[in-house]
Amino acid sequence: MAEYKLEVTTGDMKYGGTLDYIYATLFGTEGESERTELDNFGFDALRGMTRTYTIKTAAPLGKLLLLKVEKDPFFILPEDQWYCSKIVVATPEGEAILFPCYRWISRGELVELRGGKAIKVFEEDHPLLTDHRKKELITKKNLYQWAITDEKIPHHIHYTDIAELPAEVQFSLSRKHEFDFAKGLAGVELLFKGMAGSTEQWSSFENIKDIFCCQKTPMSEYVAEHWMEDDFFGYQFLNGTNPREIKRCSELPPNFPVTEEMVKPSLQEGSSLKKEMEKGNIFLCDQKIMDKILTREYEGEHLQTASGFCLFYMNPENKLMPIAIQLHQQPSKQNPIFLPSDSETDWLLAKIFVKSTDTLVYQAVCHLMGTHFLAEVFGVAALRSFPVIHPLYKFLIPHFRYTLHINTLSRTILFGPKGVLNTSTLGYEGITELIRRGLSEMTYSSLCLPDNITARGLDSVANFYYRDDGLKLWNIIKSFVRKVVEHYYPADSDVVKDTELQDWINEIFTHGFLANELAGFPTAFKTVEEVVKFITMLLFTVTAQHAALNNGQFDFLSWMPNGSFLTRKPPPTTKGQSSIQTILETFPNVGETVTFAALVVVLSEKYSDMVLLGAYTEDMFHETALKQTIKEFQADLCSLTDTIAARNTKLELPYTYLSPTEIENSVTI
Ligand code: FE2
Repeated sequence: MAEYKLEVTTGDMKYGGTLDYIYATLFGTEGESERTELDNFGFDALRGMTRTYTIKTAAPLGKLLLLKVEKDPFFILPEDQWYCSKIVVATPEGEAILFPCYRWISRGELVELRGGKAIKVFEEDHPLLTDHRKKELITKKNLYQWAITDEKIPHHIHYTDIAELPAEVQFSLSRKHEFDFAKGLAGVELLFKGMAGSTEQWSSFENIKDIFCCQKTPMSEYVAEHWMEDDFFGYQFLNGTNPREIKRCSELPPNFPVTEEMVKPSLQEGSSLKKEMEKGNIFLCDQKIMDKILTREYEGEHLQTASGFCLFYMNPENKLMPIAIQLHQQPSKQNPIFLPSDSETDWLLAKIFVKSTDTLVYQAVCHLMGTHFLAEVFGVAALRSFPVIHPLYKFLIPHFRYTLHINTLSRTILFGPKGVLNTSTLGYEGITELIRRGLSEMTYSSLCLPDNITARGLDSVANFYYRDDGLKLWNIIKSFVRKVVEHYYPADSDVVKDTELQDWINEIFTHGFLANELAGFPTAFKTVEEVVKFITMLLFTVTAQHAALNNGQFDFLSWMPNGSFLTRKPPPTTKGQSSIQTILETFPNVGETVTFAALVVVLSEKYSDMVLLGAYTEDMFHETALKQTIKEFQADLCSLTDTIAARNTKLELPYTYLSPTEIENSVTI
């Protein structure tokens, strides 16, 4: 006779428990147990509960291979899903083996858990497990299929409705209760006291402050007060929602003919553009990506966007100042270079157009494509390529939590043909084209922060907190990833012979980067170092990068003039013709403004079941070494939080978006 003690933990989320009957069967190298009901006196699987049960067998089962879990109805009650977190099995030999589950289980579902340490495909040593592994991947590839909306944008999961998504990738019930994207948007719009749907034009800048009746933050109020100031305009290209657009400029593009005379008044006395370029103080934002892009029709005319250049000067006070703006690529009489010395409204209008284009690029290319779509590609490829016992499944799966759900929603409500972005200057077709162009320009090194900063010549720029905090995070993440990867892949040969790992990167290359070899994306992994670099990039993208881009949306964009998704008038073609009235006519009307404001309210929400970077609330690893590695990662993040908090006490505008306490463990919003 042998006894196995099963310690069963039910999830502590709302509705995690069940009244249904639960059965377990153990499979070992020497035989299997009977299908045994897990039944103690009283309720067994209530929310957050851990209870221990005994399974008796005639003889020891040898090495434990699988644990089968089933659930049958309790009398005639309706379906009562159960969230099983984990089962720890104590064997007669004195071992305690962790079987992570962390999923909802419905009636009639066959759930076979694998326990113990993570295993790569070439380490499987039992025919039952080899067979189980193969079958698991066939099921997963059927469950998670690729779909293509457009040949030139990253592929995505084939489900079109969140209700169809497998339970394991859906929002929890508690989050579903808190978050109903569509209703949320409409509900938030209603809060804007009668402004929703209004086709009236704003009558003054002051009136636009009415949108803050609903919600405001210290930063959004700061933006409303300072949005017209040149130094704050420059500040946002370093520390705003889109810190990825400027680069150092050592030579002007031939189609941006700024002269010494034009910028002399903006530079330090006695200096020149040439000298400042040599000193590394001149920066450029080139908005070529928007050149001749398709735009939406509005009141019978096609709208227009800016697609030109903005030149910046880092002045002796370490403030980044815009000093010249050209709103289209081709220089001409109808495309003048605007300067701070022009009339106040000419210069302001030029900055408004630069910022509006920047906001569209930010939302479509940097935020949606660069974080959300990529996170989905990494996640779908992982679900299809790794069985749950694979070390990289255990390591990466918490970083894809809720991403398929939020993206499936956003494809209809935000980005789809009827989504909110369809009401932007570009409309759905233009946004799609913008994403296509963004992907075609994306390189592997642009996704790796240290390479990105160096390529843009921004290593030594002052007051660049996105870079300072981002690089510290990159290094902390890299050191953590290295420990995990090297634990499972001690040699390059382990990487090469892991066919599941190779399948994963190949799926990402094909479906995410659309087989663009010239852009430097890996097609296969040959070394441990390559895996460390790629997973560092992945973790950084779905956590820190998303937080830096996502979390300031309300702060910077709820004040519409600071970055409008829609400009109703074309960019100015002459100087001296503009007035405040021109600017107000250019802005979206009241109802359109409210729709965009509601969007950034919803996208900046925080939810009660948020998991912070590195929290790893699920116990996925049996190995003690990995538990220790996670603790060290958490300690490093804590220490960075303190460093950033101390730095922020000295700043007029604290930069908080990359504080680890503000970063989620996955893309969920
Ligand atoms: Fe987001």
